Amino acid sequence: MTLRRVNVVILVLISIAFLIIVHRNLLNLSDFLKQEGSDEAPGAILPFENGFFAEHKARTGEEIPVVITASEERLGAAVAAMNSINRNTKANVVFNVVTLNESVEHLRTWLSKTDIKHKIITFEPKILDGKISSKPQQPDLEKPLTFARFYMPNFLPDTDRAIYLDDDVIVQGDIQELFEMSLKPGHAAAFSEDCDSTSSKGIIKGAGNQNSYIGFLDFKKEAIRKLGMRANTCSFNPGVIVANLTEWKHQNITQQLEMWMERNVKEGLYNSMLAESFTTPPLLIVFYKRHSSIEPMWHVRHLGATGAGNRYSSQFINAAKLLHWNGHYKPWGRASSYTDVWDKWYVPDPTGKFHPIRRHSANK
Ligand SMILES: *[C@@H]1O[C@H](CO)[C@@H](O)[C@H](O)[C@H]1NC(C)=O
Ligand SMILES: *[C@@H]1O[C@H](CO)[C@@H](O)[C@H](O)[C@H]1NC(C)=O
Ligand SMILES: *[C@@H]1O[C@H](CO)[C@@H](O)[C@H](O)[C@H]1NC(C)=O
Repeated sequence: MTLRRVNVVILVLISIAFLIIVHRNLLNLSDFLKQEGSDEAPGAILPFENGFFAEHKARTGEEIPVVITASEERLGAAVAAMNSINRNTKANVVFNVVTLNESVEHLRTWLSKTDIKHKIITFEPKILDGKISSKPQQPDLEKPLTFARFYMPNFLPDTDRAIYLDDDVIVQGDIQELFEMSLKPGHAAAFSEDCDSTSSKGIIKGAGNQNSYIGFLDFKKEAIRKLGMRANTCSFNPGVIVANLTEWKHQNITQQLEMWMERNVKEGLYNSMLAESFTTPPLLIVFYKRHSSIEPMWHVRHLGATGAGNRYSSQFINAAKLLHWNGHYKPWGRASSYTDVWDKWYVPDPTGKFHPIRRHSANK
């Protein structure tokens, strides 16, 4: 053997020794990883494992506060909406469920049978004294809980951003995406415009002008005229709100809304043909040209505008991130569109008080 050959052999031996050491270390590392996985939380290190284990693990990370109301005669709606949100995200969603004192126990029992993380907030209708008319002829439009969204900073005093949702929605997208949408500087909220193309074109036939300000406000009234708003400005739907509560408080939005509600009681400022909720007109005034826009697929609406008739294709319904059954025909009622979508998320009432009413059950 020449000296040169000996050198080569030594080099090869050193290389093999090195490879053995590296291989051992890798084996140890993979053992270590397996250990972690099986001891702590099975499935936790597999990012695609979002089924059984993920559902039952306590959610951690940044909280996403969602405000929703629950009224006794439609508690099933709020529970279905919350369930749809929970099943379609891994985020740490905390629901702030606003309800009247009479429903607290019923709601608590129902939610205790689910893994919906929640706080129950009791709404005191007295706060609305002098702000809504006490005439009983428009019970649905002036239900106290519909005004709960005006008081979000009262429920969530230390929160910067929050989402408000009507109870007649189903969320099919990941709520984190909606939560992270950007609001323009100085805007306290984002809404969906009523003349965006996806949801509204040609759909609100027969509802008059209810996609512009004139459909909601009485422009013959001095107080409204003095605001200098254009009557044909596109209105927005407050069934889905992404709010910056820091800005909301800074701009005294709640106090401004209360002021317009009080003035309406005295002066009648809303359009007398108002068919949608009484919450919209004061919001339109306060947020005139001062709100951001929610992406249209995050608020596909008017699903309750006619009875069981298909206005949207099933592909479109599948692609929607959020479905809203605003209008008269609710998916837990007798005749409605797309009830099969809603049924997927319904959680039966453990007390047996609430039942969806179905067309076929009427025939039995
Ligand atoms: C709330 O309801 C409970 C029982 O459901 C009742 O005992 C209590 O007095 C009510 N509170 C108020 C403030 O009405
Ligand atoms: C909310 O508004 C405040 C004040 O304008 C701003 O500092 C903050 O970044 C905003 N928060 C979010 C989440 O947009
Ligand atoms: C909000 O209200 C406070 C106290 O009532 C007042 O000092 C402040 O100027 C108001 N801010 C705005 C933007 O109206």
